[in-house]
Amino acid sequence: MSASPAHKFSNPRARYNFQGRTCSITGVGSYVPAKILTNAELEKLVDTTDEWIITRTGIKERRLAAANEFTSDMGAKAALRALKRAGVTAAQVDLIIVATITPDMPFPPTACLVQQKIGARRAAAFDLEAACSGFIYGLEIAQQFIMSRTYDTVLVIGAEKLSSIIDWKDRNTCVLFGDGAGAAVLQNRPQAHGLLTAVMGSDGENADLLFMPGGGSRCPASTESVNARLHYLRMNGKETFKNAVQAMYTAARESLRRCEIDISQIRCVIPHQANRRIIDAVGERLGAQPAQLFVNLEKYGNTSAASVAIALDEAVESGRIQRGDLILLVVFGAGLTWGAAVIEW
Ligand code: ACO
Repeated sequence: MSASPAHKFSNPRARYNFQGRTCSITGVGSYVPAKILTNAELEKLVDTTDEWIITRTGIKERRLAAANEFTSDMGAKAALRALKRAGVTAAQVDLIIVATITPDMPFPPTACLVQQKIGARRAAAFDLEAACSGFIYGLEIAQQFIMSRTYDTVLVIGAEKLSSIIDWKDRNTCVLFGDGAGAAVLQNRPQAHGLLTAVMGSDGENADLLFMPGGGSRCPASTESVNARLHYLRMNGKETFKNAVQAMYTAARESLRRCEIDISQIRCVIPHQANRRIIDAVGERLGAQPAQLFVNLEKYGNTSAASVAIALDEAVESGRIQRGDLILLVVFGAGLTWGAAVIEW
């Protein structure tokens, strides 16, 4: 086992009267569909090049769900892997939270479909919509339920079938996104390691930077809305980029400040996997060494709410994170929304 960075930190939760409760991540899991879409294949769909996509984003390929494979299927597969690693049965789960912007249907909640697929009969289940930031929002909500003694075992899932809302004629967006799911089991483990703090933030003033105009109450589906291509994601990439760097940096700083730690004490920074240049800019502003940053976006692109959940699972599985390490998750998405979390693994 590699040595942990020396870490003395303050646990912000200790301020509250939470004696005997700690919210630990006891298992993680992920699932990505088998089908790979390469940059070379995208060159045949839109006016782009492998070279442009790699230099401007760092993405080499992304995964696409099959026609009969939905967000709930991917979420259920990731969840079963996380439960297995945690040594927990589906029947023990008290609550399922699915973070997604691509639910199987507007309702019922995709979380209920996951509940049925994994057989978690006792669980309450709901969806959470905070775009790419959803997984950290989910971790914080799970933690609140656990610390308040409402629940002991919560399953948080980030799952997306973004290929279902991509305009495959829009080169500005279609090269960026992919499908997949990641999951974490959070449990009360007295005196154990766990989630130390989570920062969440939003800015509705910039809601128009990244959105899908059609399909909601403002613009229900109609022949006109389909013809106008309103049921696809739209993004102002440049402005989103600028806001992402600033918000991720600020949220990360705040989470470190709350724990009274320095970036050098963080073993692994797991940022939202949207764009290599965003990750590098945030890392640089935080003063992180390149080796501290976990990056897997070259394989998957941006999987929105699934992004840091998949990355966390890969970081654990590959041995990048060891017991006792401090890790920093930091995310950004439509809303705008953002967040950061410090975890003692
Ligand atoms: N291939 C070739 N050229 C392209 C492509 C492409 N795939 N896409 C855009 N271009 C062109 C543009 O048309 C533009 O050409 P023009 O100057 O003739 O108009 C040129 O490249 C430069 O475009 P920019 O937008 O300036 O490129 P930029 O360097 O900003 O990169 C990108 C674009 C990759 C989209 C970047 O802005 C970005 O990553 N933004 C943030 C995305 C993000 O973080 N999303 C997170 C949230 S996602 C969620 O919540 C679901």
